[in-house]
Amino acid sequence: MKLFCCVTLLLSVAVAYYIYTPLPETISEPWKLMILDATIRSMFSLGGLFQSLGVCHQVQTIRYIQESLQGLAPLPSGGPEGHDTTFAGVQVRMYETSRGDKDRLRRGLVFLHGGGWAVGSTKERSYDLLCRTMADELIAVIVSVEYRLAPEVHFPQQYDDCLEASKHFLRPEVLALYSVDPERVGVSGDSAGGNLAAAVAQQISVDDSISVKFRVQALIYPVLQALDFNTPSYQQNHNVPILYRSSMVHFWLEYLDADHTLIHPMLINNHTAKNQKVLSKHRAKYDWTALLSPEFQKNYKPVVQLKGSSKILKKVPALLDVRAAPLLAEEAVLSRTPQAYILTCEHDVLRDDGLMYARRLEQAGVTVTSDHYADGFHGCISFAFGPIKFAVGERALRNYISWLDDHL
Ligand SMILES: *[C@@H]1O[C@H](CO)[C@@H](O)[C@H](O)[C@H]1NC(C)=O
Repeated sequence: MKLFCCVTLLLSVAVAYYIYTPLPETISEPWKLMILDATIRSMFSLGGLFQSLGVCHQVQTIRYIQESLQGLAPLPSGGPEGHDTTFAGVQVRMYETSRGDKDRLRRGLVFLHGGGWAVGSTKERSYDLLCRTMADELIAVIVSVEYRLAPEVHFPQQYDDCLEASKHFLRPEVLALYSVDPERVGVSGDSAGGNLAAAVAQQISVDDSISVKFRVQALIYPVLQALDFNTPSYQQNHNVPILYRSSMVHFWLEYLDADHTLIHPMLINNHTAKNQKVLSKHRAKYDWTALLSPEFQKNYKPVVQLKGSSKILKKVPALLDVRAAPLLAEEAVLSRTPQAYILTCEHDVLRDDGLMYARRLEQAGVTVTSDHYADGFHGCISFAFGPIKFAVGERALRNYISWLDDHL
């Protein structure tokens, strides 16, 4: 009995130690977040272990566990079921509401899910529920794009899949087929999907061969640049779940098919050191000392190395490609993009990516609604439906849908 008690006690302490992470005081529901984080960390560790044993790529383990956990999520009720088809050879899942007046044209929305360009799927319960909800509440046709993922494919394939599917949907005859109003089509996405949505919105806006344009772009905590991993939000939240700074750099390296050992120099901005001439025309586009308000700069200092590792930008030229890093677009391009909704969370390494983009769009004359959550964390909208449900996720979801309802 004594032994049993001792073992139980020790195990409890070990588990508590594993789960416990010091979190900022203002974050939403910290204990729930710790448990969620411990689950995600375990998935990554197990994935890493299997990869080092040569069993399979880390991402495959993570996908497998994610799929297995789906069973715990609530079964969808309400909202139209998605059906799978292909647009220009790209897999998409369509959600078509039966609500609304049969003779009236509906809204359309291209939705791009997040997951670091490597995980996630249109079939993931949280995305499936989100798309059903939007189709139903907005009386819209939702096109959720099943773009291919890393490590099977790399940049620019993910982007190209999203672009091709979007172009196909925007064709007047396709919109007509789905009874969608060409004046009311938007593009949206969260996290890496927000990156793809911003990049696709830019390309569609400047392509004169496309007659129907997006009316809105709604970006949920988007990833927009890989030149500064020491923005105030990267510094402040580098260890805040569920997206750690190091994980974000790994996702970038995998997306751009680059060597993962580059993480060490890139974490300290060695790739964008002062002596990098090629950067002179880009610096102002991600200069947070000019683009962020003092409230978000706080007391953080820019991290700019003098010499750094000059070969990185040559080895990974996609770091400077606007299709990968939409924040680097020229103002003339930004000025042609549709009005924007940008959701940011205080406890998110990507907060400043979103805030800087909002500012650059405004400078280019685009109307922007910035929706900031002081208690939010990266990914919170995916936890609006349960089984792990966060109040901040539900709140953010409601505001996002209601913005679309007002502007699309
Ligand atoms: C960053 O660059 C400096 C200067 O070239 C170099 O000495 C240092 O080793 C680099 N750091 C990393 C982590 O690669």
